[in-house]
Amino acid sequence: MKILSGIQPSGKLHIGNYFGMMKTMISHMDNSDLYVFIVDLHALTSVHDREKLCTGTLEAAADFLALGLDPEKCTFWVQSDVPEVCELAWILSTLTPMGLMERCHSYKDKVAKGIDASHGLFSYPVLMAADILLYQADQVPVGKDQKQHLEVARDISQKFNAAFGETFVVPEPAISKQTATVPGLDGQKMSKSYGNTIPIFLEGKALKKKVMSIATDATPVEDPKDPDKCNLFQMFQLFAAPARIEEVRGLYINGGAAYGYLKLELLDMISDYYAEARRKKAEYLADPETLRAILRKGADRAREKAVVTLDLVRDRVGLKY
Ligand code: ADP
Ligand code: TRP
Repeated sequence: MKILSGIQPSGKLHIGNYFGMMKTMISHMDNSDLYVFIVDLHALTSVHDREKLCTGTLEAAADFLALGLDPEKCTFWVQSDVPEVCELAWILSTLTPMGLMERCHSYKDKVAKGIDASHGLFSYPVLMAADILLYQADQVPVGKDQKQHLEVARDISQKFNAAFGETFVVPEPAISKQTATVPGLDGQKMSKSYGNTIPIFLEGKALKKKVMSIATDATPVEDPKDPDKCNLFQMFQLFAAPARIEEVRGLYINGGAAYGYLKLELLDMISDYYAEARRKKAEYLADPETLRAILRKGADRAREKAVVTLDLVRDRVGLKY
């Protein structure tokens, strides 16, 4: 089974990215043909700052490796190091109906949040379809926010197959129920572009400030509360042991859940959970040349697959005259 997913290096990776996608990808390392990449071409739709993009790309790579991704057990690369994806995106765009693109809510959401309404941002889902189809992925683990983009990729692959003969695998999304949408500090979806994240590798005072600012309601401690409507409890569940989760759920339902104490407990859990990864990340970042070498080796491996698909596509559509 070929499993593939990508992440934008558009800011510090956060616990929503970790539980929504990275953790799942890392868990597939031993049982599948795994493709993990950093989508810098996609990040260009929102980052127009050279330093920020370069640093973000290296940091995202260090994050994945520090969290346990083994580059020998998967193909791990930076999207723009395999330029074939851009040619495939163009070919796919010529059979992508405008109506399909106009229905994509992510474009409208991002523009509403202040990201410039560029053509690249609008056609973002076609490049994402090219990412997936170029490697003939069977399954794509993502958070719920990417479901519609996966549907676009499926539509485009089916359209292409119908027009030019069976060429692409039609990919399936894999969205885990418990972590489909990790809430942010304000209760909306946690997202780099919404400024409401808890970065994975934050520590000390900065981490404490974030955790203590998780929005909660004004219900007094002794009153009963609905745990499933509380974003603090949702984050708590990601880190706590099952028995403790049940205990705290009881406090919510019967009264006695004190938000301040739960936040401090959550703070300790986050801090411990990533302690080892934090140390490893610092080691990777201290040696960017090794990091670049790992990524280039991954790109060579990815490219070997990419050229095979692109050659077939060029032939199918009539570009090999
Ligand atoms: P962001 O929205 O922070 O820019 P990305 O778009 O780069 O994050 O997302 C990378 C991966 O992480 C995607 O699979 C996405 O669905 C997942 N993801 C992002 N935010 C969340 C979240 N809050 N909850 C669950 N998954 C998420
Ligand atoms: N659009 C995805 C996101 O914002 C990132 C992405 C780009 C991706 N290409 C992909 C995810 C291919 C999965 C497969 O999270």
